[in-house]
Amino acid sequence: MNKETYQFTYEVYNSIEDLTEEEAWLLKEAREVTQHAYAPYSHFQVGAVAKMANGEIVAGSNQENASFPVGLCAERVLLASAASIFPKVPVSVIAISYNNENGKSDHPVAPCGICRQSLQEFEERLRHPIKLILGGMTGKVFVIPNATSLLPLAFTSGELAIGS
Ligand code: THU
Repeated sequence: MNKETYQFTYEVYNSIEDLTEEEAWLLKEAREVTQHAYAPYSHFQVGAVAKMANGEIVAGSNQENASFPVGLCAERVLLASAASIFPKVPVSVIAISYNNENGKSDHPVAPCGICRQSLQEFEERLRHPIKLILGGMTGKVFVIPNATSLLPLAFTSGELAIGS
């Protein structure tokens, strides 16, 4: 029997002020984009803003539905838009923020499990890491070098390979 250890390294900044100019701009935009969310059920508005490898900017926000499971997270709305508007262009970085009407927004929140699965496959298919910048309206900011780091032992497309 062997024991394996999984670890990854990410950066923790005390505030948005400590980010690079571009990272700070993206996080500010993500904070703004929370206003485009449709979240009448959770009252938790998420905004995501990506810079693509071609320099284009794409945004996403969570879009809920009275039939709750129909709702979409901001990250997957963003990825679907990015792939539809700029097919085959990698996403370089995504800033994600949130506004919580029922609580605070003073710390980073990380993508949910389903979004981690989507982000992992997006990185894989475009062969490009997606840097994640996570922050609330105030407070510390996490910068994570790639999305796949957040999904250890991921189930990937390689498992479905036929004839290998
Ligand atoms: N949500 C996101 O948009 N992204 C996440 O990674 C976590 C959760 C949304 C889904 C739902 O509309 C609301 O936040 C509360 O879960």
